[in-house]
Amino acid sequence: MKALILAGGAGTRLRPITHTRAKQLVPVANKPILFYGLEAIADAGIKQVGIVVGDTADEVMAAVGDGSDWGLAVTYLPQEAPLGLAHAVLIARDFLGDDDFVMYLGDNLLKQSLKDFVERFEANRQRALSPTLDGGDEHGPCAQILLKAVPDPHRFGVAELGADGSVIRLLEKPAEPPSNLALVGVYLFDARIHEAVAAIEPSARGELEITDAIQWLVDRGLRVRTEVLDGWWIDTGKLTPLLEANRLILEILERCVEGEVDEESDLDGRVVIAPGARIVRSRIRGPVIVGRDTTVIDSFIGPFSAVGARCVIEHSEVEHSVVLDDCRVVRAGRLEDSLLGHHVEVTRSERRPRATRLMVGDHGTIDLQ
Ligand code: DAU
Repeated sequence: MKALILAGGAGTRLRPITHTRAKQLVPVANKPILFYGLEAIADAGIKQVGIVVGDTADEVMAAVGDGSDWGLAVTYLPQEAPLGLAHAVLIARDFLGDDDFVMYLGDNLLKQSLKDFVERFEANRQRALSPTLDGGDEHGPCAQILLKAVPDPHRFGVAELGADGSVIRLLEKPAEPPSNLALVGVYLFDARIHEAVAAIEPSARGELEITDAIQWLVDRGLRVRTEVLDGWWIDTGKLTPLLEANRLILEILERCVEGEVDEESDLDGRVVIAPGARIVRSRIRGPVIVGRDTTVIDSFIGPFSAVGARCVIEHSEVEHSVVLDDCRVVRAGRLEDSLLGHHVEVTRSERRPRATRLMVGDHGTIDLQ
């Protein structure tokens, strides 16, 4: 079993953050989203990983390296343009050979263990190969997809299932979804997918859709196994889901205080204070993570906030927000539901006349009180 991680694409929905960095490297609870996928793959016992990269290849390669931090052997697969998820499989043909593989979308985050998901696929295939075993059937699945009931299925690939759970139809971002079951960005395939991705045509949005490739398998009477996910799953490509992902990961953090906390400060609940961080006359109400060498003075950091490394938070309140590395938030009042990129400054000056003075990059958003 190999893994194919998709870390190309454009990331337009997370601008301006993704003007300057790959969307798969935006941190959740101070760790790049992509690293959660790498951990899940390593935990599933997979060693050989191909990472599809696009315009942000250099950045992804600098962050992941040769994969040895996770015990993985990583091969980078450059994709000339984001021509679709099935196109990514096409260009990975030599790397994948005829092996089974898990395809993992680098901006997806989910609670379910990948290990169990992979094991169930393999078990079903084994059973098909040994018809004498209980439940044996000669048609083992050639693919396994993961589905999740969502309130807004038109934003995703959507599955229509028969009463027995078999796939009837798969549609990519349909205007009128036939069900509320969205395709999660983790798929398992055997080598038969290569014929499918070579056979399909680009969709209306000009991409080779993996959804259409799986439909191609279904149309040929091949078995596509489905599982419905009950834990959480987040496609982190937009601000609200990104904050939500942050909240879910922070909720399962273990308390760990390695930085300095003075006697006038108060830490409440599940709080992580990284080494080199300093908390002075402040209140931190978890779940919260404060990154390395960050200073928090006379401030309040409220639940579900992740503050990156080397930030200064002074005379301010921050709640339910993600603050990336090297930010300065000084006398800023109260920030909520916010995402600050790297090196962002939010300050209140004493200059007259009093005014809101902004210097905001392309595609920034500001929601004034
Ligand atoms: O998140 C789940 C959804 O992902 C599924 O429900 C959809 O069926 C599936 O098509 C996909 O939809 P998105 O429109 O959200 O995919 P997105 O363009 O965001 O790409 C997903 C990941 O794959 C992202 O990390 C970028 C990467 N990618 C994307 C394309 C189109 C590539 O590496 N190469 C590509 O050509």
